[in-house]
Amino acid sequence: MVKHCIAILLTFLSLTKAGICETLPGSCRIVCDPSSDRSPDRSNGLVIPLTSSAAGPPGPPGPPGKAGPPGVASGVGSSAKGGVAFSAALQDAFSKNDVLKFNDVITNLGAGYDSSTGAFTCKTAGVYYFIFHIVKTGQNLRVDMVLNDQTVVASAVAVDVLHTDTASNSVVLQLKAGDRVYVRLNNSEVGKRDPQSRFSSFAGYLLYEI
Ligand SMILES: *[C@@H]1O[C@H](CO)[C@@H](O)[C@H](O)[C@H]1NC(C)=O
Repeated sequence: MVKHCIAILLTFLSLTKAGICETLPGSCRIVCDPSSDRSPDRSNGLVIPLTSSAAGPPGPPGPPGKAGPPGVASGVGSSAKGGVAFSAALQDAFSKNDVLKFNDVITNLGAGYDSSTGAFTCKTAGVYYFIFHIVKTGQNLRVDMVLNDQTVVASAVAVDVLHTDTASNSVVLQLKAGDRVYVRLNNSEVGKRDPQSRFSSFAGYLLYEI
């Protein structure tokens, strides 16, 4: 019991002593290290000069930075030199089961689109994206996007008989050289368009070569 009391008293005294040490006046803050016999001159972090202009030790690492901007695509696409991309608008009237000839050609990089036939012919094998929008004013309209004169790869209808309506669809196709894609009416008709407005259009581009 007595031993314990002495131990507690000694602990209290040493804590009090440490408290006094930390408030000593002067140009240095002394942090007591009772187990050390190093002199204050051999500064090892235990003696910190209050007036020092020297830089302190480095702080902890900061939080991670923000993500950087996206990289530049390295694949061959429509943005690459020699890419393939076309876009054309419809101006003439067509009916029955005509292939739509979008004769107002806006873009035709790679010259794959032929406005005299309405067909895009693949010269560079790869994966392509095609999209069309056909506006109708009167009768129901059905249009099909056709591959190689026989395979319907996308269809669209516009069935609002009271209002202007749009038939629209798109497709991603893997094509080989020589493949042809066009948009064809299916027992429908589209009237002549206002040449000032490109309401109906057909577009496609090479996503990447294969
Ligand atoms: C035309 O549309 C009908 C449905 O209205 C469809 O069954 C037929 O396959 C289409 N024809 C062609 C050639 O796409």
